[in-house]
Amino acid sequence: MSEDHNQAALERLVTEVLASAKYGDVCPDLIRHIGTLETGKRKSFKEALKATKNKLHQVSGAYRGRLEQYASWLEEVRRAVREGDKEQLRAVNRHIMHHHASTRERLPILDQFYSSLMADLAPIRSVLDIACGLNPLAIPWMPLEQGARYYAYDIHQQMLDFLKDYMKIIGMEGETRAYDVTLESPQEEVDVALILKTLPCLEQVEKKASLRLLREIRAKILIVSFPVHSLGGRSKGMEEYYEGYFYKLIEKEQKQWKVSRFEFGTELAFVMKKEIL
Ligand SMILES: C[S@@+](CC[C@H](N)C(=O)[O-])C[C@H]1O[C@@H](n2cnc3c(N)ncnc32)[C@H](O)[C@@H]1O
Repeated sequence: MSEDHNQAALERLVTEVLASAKYGDVCPDLIRHIGTLETGKRKSFKEALKATKNKLHQVSGAYRGRLEQYASWLEEVRRAVREGDKEQLRAVNRHIMHHHASTRERLPILDQFYSSLMADLAPIRSVLDIACGLNPLAIPWMPLEQGARYYAYDIHQQMLDFLKDYMKIIGMEGETRAYDVTLESPQEEVDVALILKTLPCLEQVEKKASLRLLREIRAKILIVSFPVHSLGGRSKGMEEYYEGYFYKLIEKEQKQWKVSRFEFGTELAFVMKKEIL
């Protein structure tokens, strides 16, 4: 097949994925990235298209609910902020976080999660939330400095538009961006980077993406976490598996990186300090 032909097939694949209801707001760079890898492996266009959608399901679609109601969620957040009721805002945010499997699993541990992981990290003036999902809704649980900046990156443009409006309403400075972090690591210099339950997803696209990201992120502290149950709710030794996986991943860096381990009912987390920024 000629190069022009391959390129045309790839662009057609991107267009077809973007035309689907489920993946219509995924950043095209990620579709092109996965599409290139799958086109190289599959016999036909149809197979490559199907494999690309399957991969998008594994890295993102499987976690998302189908009932996102961004406009009414924003209205609820606006109302809670207008009334100055912090508990109401937390209740609204909990309700919204229920619509993404990753934040839903974190709800039972939310009251301890950030207060434990961030206890010794003050002052936190900037946070980079990589592959954030709906996690910026947990900002009210994070001990951040007044005027802190929050950078939230994921692949779904509509979700990020919602998060941008949400951050504006709660008065959080920052930025949201639809961005494939397996292609290029974010460059912001921050106090804390959150990489929550994300490394296994990135490795579905590219095996070496995880370590590269950990190395390249310009954060004083990295908080990395893993699920301890599968999406179906079974544990199957996942905690031991991911702990072993993580220490192996960073084994060459461990002389320079200081790691502390935290265990929660639904999540295993590591707070990691890179000696050199
Ligand atoms: C398991 S969820 C974790 C969400 C969030 N970090 C949390 O713990 O609540 C994985 C997230 O990674 C995002 N994602 C997958 N591949 C990505 C990529 N290449 N670049 C950026 N985000 C990605 C998905 O859209 C999804 O929101």
